[in-house]
Amino acid sequence: MERTLQHITSIAHLTRSDAEHIFHLARKFREDFHQGIHQHSLEQKVVVNAFFENSTRTKNSFEIAALRLGAKVVSFSSTGSSVAKGESLFDTLQTLDAMFPDVIVMRNSLSGSAEYATRYVGASILNAGDGKHEHPSQALLDALTLLDVYETLEGKCIGIVGDIVHSRVARSNVLLLRLLGAKVFVCGPQTLIPTDLSTWNVQTCTTVNELIEECDTVMALRIQKERMDAGLIGSAGEYRKFYGIQMEHIETKPSLYVMHPGPVNYGVEIDFDVANSHRSLIRKQVTNGVFIRMAMLSVLKGRE
Ligand code: CP
Repeated sequence: MERTLQHITSIAHLTRSDAEHIFHLARKFREDFHQGIHQHSLEQKVVVNAFFENSTRTKNSFEIAALRLGAKVVSFSSTGSSVAKGESLFDTLQTLDAMFPDVIVMRNSLSGSAEYATRYVGASILNAGDGKHEHPSQALLDALTLLDVYETLEGKCIGIVGDIVHSRVARSNVLLLRLLGAKVFVCGPQTLIPTDLSTWNVQTCTTVNELIEECDTVMALRIQKERMDAGLIGSAGEYRKFYGIQMEHIETKPSLYVMHPGPVNYGVEIDFDVANSHRSLIRKQVTNGVFIRMAMLSVLKGRE
């Protein structure tokens, strides 16, 4: 029996059956789209896309997903809103909710802000990334992309390399990949590895070479340039040498696939030729993002 959900703020709140239902719906929406079948299930609904942080993929993907289901979409961003005048998150949420949207898709730099929002609004909240905490739609679209390649993730070895400590993508992916039966390996400079990693139930590798040897697919994370200035890693060149995915890696392991949530720093965490090769799943991740977000919007209960 498939559940409907009031909110989706964390992968930790989903069961395996919830995730599989979302994949099933996403595949159906993808198939219907390619056959020219239009969806109307959210025709009477209003979705507010509230982005307090910058985004290209997630913001546009949620917007397109809602439009493809027939919903009306209102886009809100901090710049140009009263947030720029100092309005609090609480007041912003209460103000948006007083206009009775059915769903608020929210990205915010504060870890836990999506869960916080659920306490103060009647709309369903979809977490589009909250600080270092979680990015559930990214993990779901990543898993769908992997399932397109492998059919099942039971026993598959998936590697995540880069800035693990600051990454909401890593946190959501570790939870979901493990829920689906995959073995997860992580790798990165010691300064970017969480101190509580022993509680994550993952294995670690010291270099990207070691990670690639162990794994079926490796996902590179974006290195935020400001972390170099903060002294958490050395130069871009040094980072690439130990943790960057290069052409020789995919040449020496013909079965390897590579992923990246984007946006990419070419020549740091992944080389341009690798990211744009036939072994890269990056564009497929973006395409699957729309269908996963259609599925996520569809399983919500909406306004209480
Ligand atoms: N992957 C991801 O969240 O990208 P955006 O910041 O462009 O949404």
